[in-house]
Amino acid sequence: MRTVYFGTIVHSLALADLQVLPSAAVGVDEDGTIEFLDPNTRSAEASAEKHSWPVGSYSVVSSDPASVSFFFPGFFDTHIHASQYPNVGLFGKTTLLDWLNSYTFPLESSFADLKVADNVYSRVIARTLGNGTTTAAYYATVHTAGTNLLADLALKAGQRAFIGRCCMDANSPDYYCDKTLEDAQKATLEVIEHITKIDPNHDIVCPILTPRFAASCSKELLCWLGKLSTNTNLPVQTHISENMLEVELVKSMHTFADSYAGVYDKCGLLHDQTILAHAVHLTDDERALIAKRGSGIAHCPASNSALTSGETRVKWLLDAGVKVGLGTDVSGGFTPSILHTARQALLVSRHLSMEGDESHKLSIEEVLHLATVGGAEVCGLSNKLGNFLPGKKWDAQLITLDCKNSPVDIFPWELKTHEDLVAKWLFNGDDRNVTKVWVDGKLVAGTAFTS
Ligand SMILES: *[C@@H]1O[C@H](CO)[C@@H](O)[C@H](O)[C@H]1NC(C)=O
Ligand SMILES: *[C@@H]1O[C@H](CO)[C@@H](O)[C@H](O)[C@H]1NC(C)=O
Ligand SMILES: [Zn+2]
Repeated sequence: MRTVYFGTIVHSLALADLQVLPSAAVGVDEDGTIEFLDPNTRSAEASAEKHSWPVGSYSVVSSDPASVSFFFPGFFDTHIHASQYPNVGLFGKTTLLDWLNSYTFPLESSFADLKVADNVYSRVIARTLGNGTTTAAYYATVHTAGTNLLADLALKAGQRAFIGRCCMDANSPDYYCDKTLEDAQKATLEVIEHITKIDPNHDIVCPILTPRFAASCSKELLCWLGKLSTNTNLPVQTHISENMLEVELVKSMHTFADSYAGVYDKCGLLHDQTILAHAVHLTDDERALIAKRGSGIAHCPASNSALTSGETRVKWLLDAGVKVGLGTDVSGGFTPSILHTARQALLVSRHLSMEGDESHKLSIEEVLHLATVGGAEVCGLSNKLGNFLPGKKWDAQLITLDCKNSPVDIFPWELKTHEDLVAKWLFNGDDRNVTKVWVDGKLVAGTAFTS
């Protein structure tokens, strides 16, 4: 049945343009596609009539008039290691390379056991959906069966997901790696075949080619993945320039290119369906190359702070026309919530501007843009997702704030504008305020969700 969503609509139209519509209606057809957005209307019924939807041909979902609630687009997590979820918060004083060896590889290697995979993957999907993430770009592990299971579980839960089997045939521990180039190739193809079998058009789950990072792959594997991506049009995700020791390692290992970004580019891995996580220490030339190729950056502020990697210059990237979305980078990052990550992005941008250059500063509107439209761009889905413009899909959250009994003390009389409420939400909200979550027009999670 068609549905009219009526009430307050908040969504981003452009980087600094967050639209707040206090009395709007969105008409969504049977297959989850938005047919109309009425920015200002009296009622759901008035809107339906205007668009010639006969009475009885649609149902109505209203944001709760008794409390403060609004519809907001679903979040994009453009970089999350599903397999690392058990390690959130565990990183001690490590930085990237010793963190991988002491925390990450031992955990990931345990996913040879499908019971472990089932348990962790079910939870990470439920937790991220419950926190409003309607699309996630996941890294699994090297294991084929476990990676296929992650795809099965995301499809079943109704979460849009890119599913990446980690390729790592070089410079990796003996107990956790692709033993040969051929092993990596065979396993990669098996995962693509499985996902294509369960979701032939890749509408909800889509395979994503995943060289773990340049330092854990041979040149042959990188270039084979690049070619595969060209031939199949499948997207690519990997890491770039997260940590200075890593940058040096890549430089010494792959002497065929003159920069980290150059390594990926020489192997055909930099294109407009490529997600690059971190991008903390890029040079001006690398920024220009990435902009030219149309690749996107997953900005992971919580992880970059936790692992002392550095502060990504988001405005500097955006100024050059580079696409940017947000990533939790669980478990380099300690939270699976994109709302929390948006908060961190805002703070990191202020740390950068404390060095004297105000132009680094990101606003509330801007970080919420990165969390939605920016993420959609980075995932190559901006024609389909990211906000509530007609023609896009209804991937949405109903956010409910509490002005009466709130432990964070929202005093209705001190809030002059709807923008103030959005600010209260960004800094004080959490998963309890995610009342309902829809993907593709279907209700899939939220505190008011019962299946
Ligand atoms: C949201 O994420 C937090 C932090 O991990 C988690 O504790 C919580 O259970 C998640 N919410 C839901 C509804 O799953
Ligand atoms: C989020 O929801 C909880 C539970 O209803 C409420 O206590 C809290 O005040 C809400 N947060 C905000 C920012 O309104
Ligand atoms: Zn990562």
